[in-house]
Amino acid sequence: MTRRPRRNRQSEVIRNMVEETTLGLNDFIFPLFIIEGQNKKIEISSMPGINRFSIDTLLEEVNSCVELGVKAFAPFASIPEQLKDKMATESHNPDGLFPRAIREIKKNFPDVVLMTDVALDPYSSDGHDGIVENGEILNDETLEVLGKMALVQAQAGTDIVGPSDMMDGRVGYIRKVLDDAGYNKVGIMSYTAKYASSFYGPFRDALDSAPKKGDKKTYQMNFANSREALIEAELDTQEGADFLMVKPALAYLDIIKLLRENSHLPIAAYNISGEYAMVKAAAQNGWIDGEKAMVEVLTSIKRAGADVILTYFAKEYAQFIRR
Ligand code: PBG
Repeated sequence: MTRRPRRNRQSEVIRNMVEETTLGLNDFIFPLFIIEGQNKKIEISSMPGINRFSIDTLLEEVNSCVELGVKAFAPFASIPEQLKDKMATESHNPDGLFPRAIREIKKNFPDVVLMTDVALDPYSSDGHDGIVENGEILNDETLEVLGKMALVQAQAGTDIVGPSDMMDGRVGYIRKVLDDAGYNKVGIMSYTAKYASSFYGPFRDALDSAPKKGDKKTYQMNFANSREALIEAELDTQEGADFLMVKPALAYLDIIKLLRENSHLPIAAYNISGEYAMVKAAAQNGWIDGEKAMVEVLTSIKRAGADVILTYFAKEYAQFIRR
């Protein structure tokens, strides 16, 4: 035998030398959940280790992440039911919980990067990402609300807006609204290939944002399709996106790779709530080693071609490599 691949696996130093994929803290964006109130930190039961924070405790959390080397965050606000309506009006209230949280984070930590979600669902009494009329999601009417929402977030100091609603034309619409208002430095990380997935469950628990009726299949993509992701990528690129995102990540590694090979833009992947919950649940049962599974999952997403990974593991990973 002249070829023996095991030679390059025989010691840790050699293994490390030939390692193709390395994770770094710079790759991560850590999602954060925000609630109204003071001195609150409430664990999300379906996401062990992940909490909803009031703004004061949120700042402490950001501080501890920054000290660990995690410097990019994706905040989400949990909105009380009584503030939700059909038009998601609270989504563009400049004094609402979300813009207040953005302002506080950026005031206390000017160097962190915030990527803020743009979609109606946490603010909609229908629990949908767009405006609902007679059971239908109205595309073009929704764009107006998304534009207002992105603008309020830009005014509050966000660095990057992340339209996650999957309406047609939203990237171009938001780009124009931001540019017309002088926010041409605010980036857009488009949730380009966002699939109608059953792995969003724990996130919807965290924000009480599940659809009241029906599902999201008329706007989120069919998980049986990959060419459609290329159409979305082409449109988002033409419309001015700065990053393309694939979501979820784990069951969609082929889509991450496909976009990586077909675009010059940075590719982000969202390792979503249900993917996190799966690892945590199995680990809590003693069925897998949670820490090792975390590293394997994150490495696989990077290996598939993601430059940026949104993950609930970001802080835990930072603690893990510090040890
Ligand atoms: C809002 C939004 C969702 C997620 C991110 N932004 C929920 C959804 O589309 O139903 C899910 C993130 C996760 O599950 O971790 N549109």
